[in-house]
Amino acid sequence: MINFKNLAKKYETPLYVYDFESIKKNYLELKDAFKARKSLICYAVKANSNLSVLKLLAKLEAGADCVSIGEVKRALKAGIPKYKIIFSGVGKRDDEIEEAILRDILMINIESEAEFDRVELIAKKLDKKARISIRVNPNIDAKTHPYISTGLNENKFGIDIENAKKLYIRAKNSNYIEPIGIHFHIGSQLTKLEPIKEASAIIASMLRQLKVLDIDIKFFDVGGGIGIRYEDEKIIKPYDYAQAVLETLKGTDVTIVCEPGRYIVGNSGYFLTTVLYEKENNSKRFVIVDGAMNDLLRPSLYKAYHAIEAVDVKGESSKCDVVGPVCESGDFLAKDIELPKLKNGDLLVVKSAGAYGFTMSSNYNSRGRAAEVAIEGDEDRLIRKRESFEDLIRLEKEFL
Ligand code: LLP
Repeated sequence: MINFKNLAKKYETPLYVYDFESIKKNYLELKDAFKARKSLICYAVKANSNLSVLKLLAKLEAGADCVSIGEVKRALKAGIPKYKIIFSGVGKRDDEIEEAILRDILMINIESEAEFDRVELIAKKLDKKARISIRVNPNIDAKTHPYISTGLNENKFGIDIENAKKLYIRAKNSNYIEPIGIHFHIGSQLTKLEPIKEASAIIASMLRQLKVLDIDIKFFDVGGGIGIRYEDEKIIKPYDYAQAVLETLKGTDVTIVCEPGRYIVGNSGYFLTTVLYEKENNSKRFVIVDGAMNDLLRPSLYKAYHAIEAVDVKGESSKCDVVGPVCESGDFLAKDIELPKLKNGDLLVVKSAGAYGFTMSSNYNSRGRAAEVAIEGDEDRLIRKRESFEDLIRLEKEFL
């Protein structure tokens, strides 16, 4: 049992707490599921990019899936080797592409023909060969929240199959591009195996067609997206996930790349927040806490559910909204949940907050971002300080 009260006392709230043993367990479980094959788990840095989290994963020999040069630099700084780093994303700037090529990372994941042109041009200027994969859009409905579904043609991600084939042929004939990977990612928080199977089969068939064209792809990247249990979702087991992908790859000799973010860190993280007051408006009950949408945006942005528990508070519970101090009606951590009567100083723990929690936080309303703490067994340590007022204004110039 994690002693949330002690942690809140020692580090104050709002506070993120990450259980490193749980992160390790989740990573190893997934790695193990793919053991029948050569595999590389490239952790999706966007889910939680704290350097200590990355360092833990580096020690476990993970790679990194990055969507900005900032994330690439974080991964490198944490000790993830360059040959295990992938750079994805629909909109890469020239300077980011250049740096990725110069830093010699495993591959750049290309998402459009125009981007292909830029990468080729920049590689030519540098007189280097850029290793690439192409993100292919299999046009599959992932059956998840529309904001985090990415595998349909109507989404901005990836390239349709026919155009992707043309680009592979161009790549093969280019002096500056070396196609080594094929990639798809149909969405996040996936709880159904069928769409993954379907997408994997489509991309595997394309892989075979490329082989016939003498284009030898070494990395089959299935993206991320394995869902976790926030409430009572039925989730995909790593073993079944791996089997589903492996079945589509019979007779091929590719390294499987997988880019999980949420699965590794989501349920390993907690967000602690302290009750300020209770209030009732027209018989609706509000619990006002010191954490807000700037700390944990998911409930406001996606109406995402995060279980919330009161620590060591007994008594009859009733329905309430848990809301923060930010000046927006959309500033809530939960709606219509049951909690006991609370008073100033009581502690709430928001669960499953390890993924897309801190990384999506902001300074809105001039609120310093929360501190982050790692726990390992009985030990705890601060891995990011709480932001101070000085941190908030540090980059601003005097206007007088
Ligand atoms: N690979 C690619 C290409 C991605 O776009 C993503 C997530 C991942 C891997 C990792 O997905 P995961 O395993 O974590 O599901 N902010 C949203 C999630 C956005 C996900 C964006 N892409 C949320 O809070 O639910």
